[in-house]
Amino acid sequence: MTGETLPKAGKRLFIKTYGCQMNVYDSERMADILRPLGYGMTDAPEDADLVVLNTCHIREKAAEKVYSELGRIKEMRAARTEAGGARMGVVVAGCVAQAEGEEIMRRAPVVDLVVGPQAYHKLPELIARTTRALGERLSADFAPEAKFDALPIARQVDGVTAFLTVQEGCDKFCTFCVVPYTRGGEYSRPTADIEAEARGLAAQGVREVTLLGQNVNAYSGGPDGLAGLARRLAAIEGLDRIRYTTSHPRDMDEALIAAHGELEALMPYLHLPVQSGSDKILRAMNRDHTAATYLKLIERIRAARPDMALSCDFIVGFPGETEADFQDTLNLIEEVNFASAFSFKYSRRPGTPASAMPGQVAEEVKDERLARLNALLDAQRMAFNASQVGRTLNVLFERPGRYPGQILGRSPYLQAVHVDGPERLIGQIAPVRVTQGNMNSLTGDLILEDPRSSRPKAGSAKKVLA
Ligand code: SAH
Ligand code: SF4
Ligand code: F3S
Repeated sequence: MTGETLPKAGKRLFIKTYGCQMNVYDSERMADILRPLGYGMTDAPEDADLVVLNTCHIREKAAEKVYSELGRIKEMRAARTEAGGARMGVVVAGCVAQAEGEEIMRRAPVVDLVVGPQAYHKLPELIARTTRALGERLSADFAPEAKFDALPIARQVDGVTAFLTVQEGCDKFCTFCVVPYTRGGEYSRPTADIEAEARGLAAQGVREVTLLGQNVNAYSGGPDGLAGLARRLAAIEGLDRIRYTTSHPRDMDEALIAAHGELEALMPYLHLPVQSGSDKILRAMNRDHTAATYLKLIERIRAARPDMALSCDFIVGFPGETEADFQDTLNLIEEVNFASAFSFKYSRRPGTPASAMPGQVAEEVKDERLARLNALLDAQRMAFNASQVGRTLNVLFERPGRYPGQILGRSPYLQAVHVDGPERLIGQIAPVRVTQGNMNSLTGDLILEDPRSSRPKAGSAKKVLA
């Protein structure tokens, strides 16, 4: 990263992203902010002038990956220097940067710069400062407002779906979780800024946005919260589908539930983590709700939108979890019937209250519970996919499939759908009759309908099949 050795133009940027969708969004934004400095993306880290690792601290494994990756980068950089190439700059960003910046600097001298999630807008300045940026750590202060204000509204996207961060940070302090420490307190972007960003996305052909937030349904940047925002975004021409993630059961308010019954653009698929089905464990997790209130909430959501598919996160082996507590989780799953889910073994995170709790569960017990949990969740997912056979679903086509003549899209329930069809349908929504439900995807046939009989959204002629 020194002034003498960095090539002046046509610099190559490699970003490796770990963790959640917000990190995916942040990586895109880092690319946006570095583009004016002459950085273009490369898929090959060995060719890169600047390598950014955008890291995740949520579980021990995720955090440890960073150090092994830095080992590989060190070798790459040495090989490049040996071959007389320009110096490779190495930046560690994301939640590990925020949580253990000093340790990174100590353990990995290959790192030039450590930058936490609230300081990405300062990257150009830091990198332009050449050698003075080396060894710098910039991660301590949480100022999301300053960051969002400084990031350019204009984005460069290629694809028909996009992520859009509307809320960042968390005040919930679940006792197992590092996010309130790595992302700071809850902050909601103003609706007008989000609308402007969404318009820009739609103008580039984006048909579906996923609104992101650590507690996205706590969004408070405009009237009527997330429901109000969804309504504003649904009015943008070309933007036919809106999703949001991740929600907290405590913040699922009446207005948002009602919006699911009213807004066609709001997709009938909701990720609503419950973590556990045991009230004792929920209390110890500081989730601030019971299994019964969660089930009641699901009932209300399904009353507003009967075809709502649900997705969830679970943690097994939280401190103090007994076999009976685990059974409560299995019972809750039986009761709800999830379309998909993520499940994790509890991972002890330094500094979180749960890491110091008594009754830490043995690794073998966690393994065994995870296997039983996954068997049940897999069976539910398979059953949900199989239940789509014979139905006609609107599919937003995203890209060519793996085989010639095949295209791939997503159903309203976020299932991957493969059909034989022309590539010109990519970027369009078309009805598909489902012929097969598999574990990870659906297969179906395009229904080539008469354009006159379809009901496109006003002004959205692209929705009609040619
Ligand atoms: N904000 C979201 C998700 C945060 S992290 C929410 O409130 O649900 C994503 C998931 O990782 C969590 O839902 C939880 O299931 C899991 N997770 C978080 N901390 C963990 C830990 N210490 N060990 C295991 N899983 C964890
Ligand atoms: Fe973590 Fe809980 Fe906040 Fe989700 S709500 S980010 S699990 S502290
Ligand atoms: Fe990981 Fe940070 Fe997301 S810890 S899950 S990258 S908010």
